[in-house]
Amino acid sequence: MPEISGLLPKKPLLIAIDGPAAAGKGTLAQSLAAGLDLPYLDTGLLYRAIGKLMQIAGLDLDDARAATVVAQRLTPDDLRRTDLRGREAGELASRVAIHPGVRAALVAFQRDFAHGPRGAVLDGRDIGTVICPDADVKLYVTASPEVRARRRTDELLAKGRAVDYEAILTEVKARDERDSGRAEAPLRPADDAVVIDTSALGPDEVLAKALSVVENWQQAR
Ligand code: DC
Repeated sequence: MPEISGLLPKKPLLIAIDGPAAAGKGTLAQSLAAGLDLPYLDTGLLYRAIGKLMQIAGLDLDDARAATVVAQRLTPDDLRRTDLRGREAGELASRVAIHPGVRAALVAFQRDFAHGPRGAVLDGRDIGTVICPDADVKLYVTASPEVRARRRTDELLAKGRAVDYEAILTEVKARDERDSGRAEAPLRPADDAVVIDTSALGPDEVLAKALSVVENWQQAR
């Protein structure tokens, strides 16, 4: 674990982390938040909860109006559901996330969280570009589709699940295409984001790189 205590922020610190699925941004975001003692919001959970609630209610995920209503009624309790983590919920999330009304309904919640008294770490797809263009530190965490599919496959195999690498790779590429190709808030690095390619790095090395970006920012201000 890299040395972190000297970096504990004395003023609010807002860190935006974006990137494609399975690049390691969630792991990094959690480590940064724990190490820097900042609140953490996994914004993917918002979209996952909307997708799941729509599926359970038998609603059509392509129905922008219905999805927007579900998004407007979302509560913090919905984020505590235990069925939001898997691949299926990720797929549902990516589909409802294309609707501008859904995205608009979630902006205020995310910005309020980000601008709390201590600052925060948020991860997602549009944090540095749309939700918090004013973030102090912006990271774009990525890796090749093959590496991400391999990691996901290994995670599932470790859980004893029967999985096919090629099928996961196809899923990863399809999700990238949907998240990057949508008209509203597509996945892309902010102009001022620092890109971290995790293809050949372990979690500690990724954390060390991110901490050096935070340190540089703290020294520069
Ligand atoms: O980060 P995740 O895998 O939990 O995200 C699931 C989907 O939700 C992702 O494929 C696209 C969508 N999403 C988004 O559009 N914007 C965000 N800030 C977070 C997630």
